[in-house]
Amino acid sequence: EKIVVGVDIGGTAIKVGICSMDGELLHTYEGPTGVEKGSDEICQNIAQYARNIVEQSPYSWEQVEGVGIGIAGFLDIPAGIVKFSPNLPLRNINLKAFLEEKLEKRVLINNDANVAALGEAWAGAGRGIDHCVCYTLGTGVGGGVIIGGKIVEGSNGMAGELGHMSVVPDLEAIQCGCGKMGCLESVSSATGIIRMAKDAVERGDRTSLSFVDEIKAKDVFDAAKAGDEVAVRIVNRAAFYLGKSMAMVAVVLNPKRFIIGGGVSNAGEFLFEQIREVFQKAAPEMAQEGVEIVPAILGNNAGVVGAAGLIIRS
Ligand code: BGC
Ligand code: NA
Ligand code: ZN
Repeated sequence: EKIVVGVDIGGTAIKVGICSMDGELLHTYEGPTGVEKGSDEICQNIAQYARNIVEQSPYSWEQVEGVGIGIAGFLDIPAGIVKFSPNLPLRNINLKAFLEEKLEKRVLINNDANVAALGEAWAGAGRGIDHCVCYTLGTGVGGGVIIGGKIVEGSNGMAGELGHMSVVPDLEAIQCGCGKMGCLESVSSATGIIRMAKDAVERGDRTSLSFVDEIKAKDVFDAAKAGDEVAVRIVNRAAFYLGKSMAMVAVVLNPKRFIIGGGVSNAGEFLFEQIREVFQKAAPEMAQEGVEIVPAILGNNAGVVGAAGLIIRS
């Protein structure tokens, strides 16, 4: 019996999963990414966690058919090179070659959000839908475009980097981790939301958030739900640019479903309603006909399932 290992590499944690050849998630394992310790440590950790999960399971390494990897950043996908990552200290690292040597298995690498989108399209909120676009709202804003069950990678691997759509007008723009100004990620990621909250507190705006020790995105949503005006403004802003970007994507790709996952999406209907409202105001009728904006359903597991899918479905 063959198995596949799927790995999802984020800014704080590396999640690993064992999947059956038909994509059933059998075991999961999680460890710290080790960002503070730099690039070598991260690569070693990935290899280590992949070995660990199989060791701790009833399966043997011989049964592993391949290892699929989803990693946050701009990649040369066929070569398996992480060129640049806005939120990870990796520059021009050939992760595929490194892991193939370390693990002695076939390794396929793709972008973390592309892989999460593949997971959702395959076994989650996009099941049976031919055209879907996913957003993952976490440390960064990730994106994945799935057409006909396949990840759209683009000419350079940059297709679906929705977090770097330049949507914020110049005067309000701040610099993004990618180096450019005004990216969606700077206002709609957890990091962006937290930054806006801290700015407000520092400015001396009247808000319940000034009594919170280490502000997290959830604190901002909780405060907004309780009617805190500063928090409401921040959430509105995050939702506004998401909705705007979806209206743009809608006339480029005309997807049937927008799927939103990642920690920030746990804010639920409170956030989704605002996004839908902006989208409906901005997108032409024909581009919204039958189009749904829905939460992801695989949650934390979308990445590992999709990463395993890279191997299983190729
Ligand atoms: C990166 C993407 C990644 C996303 C979510 C962005 O900053 O550019 O590659 O998918 O964060 O991790
Ligand atoms: Na992507
Ligand atoms: Zn950017």
